[in-house]
Amino acid sequence: MYRIGKEEIAAVARVIESKQIFKVGGLNEVFNFENELCEKIGAEKAIMMTSGKASLISALIGMGIGPGDQVIVPGYTYIASAMAIVAVGAIPVIAEIDDTLTIDIKDIEKKITSHTKAIIPVHIQGFPCNMDAICALAKKHNLFVLEDACQADGGSYHGKRLATIGDAGAFSFNFFKIVSAGEGGALVTDNREIFERAYIYHDSSAIAFFGNQLDGVGTVPFCGVQYRANEVSAAIMREQLKKMDDIIADLRANKKTVMDALAADFAFAPSNDIKGDCGTTLTFKFDTIDEAAKFEEYIGGTRPINTGKHVYSHWTPILEKRGALHPLMDPFKMEANKDIIPEYSKDMCPKTLDILSKNVYVSVNPDWTKEDMEKLVAKCKAFK
Ligand SMILES: Cc1ncc(COP(=O)(O)O)c(C=O)c1O
Repeated sequence: MYRIGKEEIAAVARVIESKQIFKVGGLNEVFNFENELCEKIGAEKAIMMTSGKASLISALIGMGIGPGDQVIVPGYTYIASAMAIVAVGAIPVIAEIDDTLTIDIKDIEKKITSHTKAIIPVHIQGFPCNMDAICALAKKHNLFVLEDACQADGGSYHGKRLATIGDAGAFSFNFFKIVSAGEGGALVTDNREIFERAYIYHDSSAIAFFGNQLDGVGTVPFCGVQYRANEVSAAIMREQLKKMDDIIADLRANKKTVMDALAADFAFAPSNDIKGDCGTTLTFKFDTIDEAAKFEEYIGGTRPINTGKHVYSHWTPILEKRGALHPLMDPFKMEANKDIIPEYSKDMCPKTLDILSKNVYVSVNPDWTKEDMEKLVAKCKAFK
């Protein structure tokens, strides 16, 4: 979260003063946010939910994914991306990343089997994935593409907003994201079937009790969960959405200023689309782990290898195949999955570990002054 203030306070006050703080029958903050999000990013349908992970799970449910299915996910993403697969009864297949720090198309290709149903490209740190290649490969093998844009609210790829390129996409609005209501998320899709199923799943009572939210619904209702968003969060998000593009423009401009100033001195990780990159992170790329570690320490940055549960080797419950508390609910013990569970190990994606060890992140701030950036540039130059 970068910018929050009086606009959000007024929005929350508006909801509380209305005394109608439920999603249905009040000020329609959730419904308005969903429509405004669609309009902003060019999606047909959006469902605001309680979190990004809820949005990922609901999207997978909407795709009809479950036991007997494999889903490919990069070895560098927050553990929630992989856990969402397990939550629907399917099996995560972990793929390498490439120098862009996003999923490696060549490794996806190697890991597709007759059980693969979907690919989850993750726009980690707001870095756009290679969506042209991913969508072409998915089309060839008849796979769904679920974009995890949880760290990439507002980013784009070749002029299209992230999360709107695949069959569905998920955003997170938790505290650490570009725009935030403290917690929250949204699923976006142009696919009516995914939308209906995800809608029913995320709030089964929407059909049972709250009438008419799904006019003309063709899907037979089934039992789901409760990921329904609330009016206060939606009111905050409506204000955050208005600020999103300015935040991203400032992040991108500041990132570019620093990269340009250091172009002769440092290498930076390549991008699948630097114009669409969210600009949150400067990614200094080194030839050796030793040099990267020294720069990390010197500049007070972070090597992605040190980001805990963002690195597959720290996904303990997945690596140890504990998918649920109840054994009969555990995808790793299900009969339907018995022949499709890969061998997981801490060193199964050596290229990913190598890349994560040789890059150093320095966070960009949209509110940096010219002097702030000059100071950072001077400090970086002094390392050499
Ligand atoms: C890449 C990625 N996917 C999914 C999630 C899950 O989002 P949430 O915390 O809103 O459930 C996160 C959150 O940090 C994330 O970074």
